[in-house]
Amino acid sequence: MDTDLPVVITIDGPSGAGKGTLSQMLASYTGYHLLDSGALYRLVALAALNSGVDLNNEQLVAQIASTLDVVFKVSGNKTTILLVGRDVTSAIRQESVSMAASQIAAYPAVRAALLERQREFAVLPGLIADGRDMGTTVFPAAQTKLFLTASAEARAERRYKQLIAKGDPVEMTSLIKDIQERDERDSNRAVSPLRPAEDAIVIDSTSMTIEQVFAKMLAAIGHRT
Ligand code: DC
Repeated sequence: MDTDLPVVITIDGPSGAGKGTLSQMLASYTGYHLLDSGALYRLVALAALNSGVDLNNEQLVAQIASTLDVVFKVSGNKTTILLVGRDVTSAIRQESVSMAASQIAAYPAVRAALLERQREFAVLPGLIADGRDMGTTVFPAAQTKLFLTASAEARAERRYKQLIAKGDPVEMTSLIKDIQERDERDSNRAVSPLRPAEDAIVIDSTSMTIEQVFAKMLAAIGHRT
């Protein structure tokens, strides 16, 4: 193997499967860079919402994607995301942005506009790439491909606990419905639908702790806890 090439580990899966936390843990453990590809789709959605662009207009949204002025400022375990110089780290996590991101992520022109930008994250010593199509489309030659999943109910329950802890009143039934809607849209789009790569290792975390999942991930990449 050519040791001058960065190692790429892809982590795909549906919303709420713990990919964000676990990708961050794996990046800290390995010392590799981290690509949060969902943040890119969220940034395009936020930029479109801010500029009043019609989200149904694929070409205009794709133009925003190809000219996105974004900086990921990494400091230790913390990443600050700047959109045209403004800190949008929290703003891109709002529910309205989640829904808009899911809509614009279905556009082939938007996905094409973001493809090269994502590949540029693969630099030495390596990359942990978190998303939906990292192993299938963006990094098909990745050394290790992981697919993290969990039942919709388990994912909704985790999200419920996070939101309640933040003081956001939410209904469990509406969270489950939102997750199912987003899964449906992410899995059924024509381009790069959410699905495990043929050579992916699937980890179902429905009844596992985060530590148990992390141990499985380390075993998959050939390390021991
Ligand atoms: O992982 P996330 O919730 O931050 O992703 C936001 C949206 O972007 C979600 O609807 C799925 C979509 N997405 C995608 O289509 N492809 C990716 N590689 C990452 C995210």
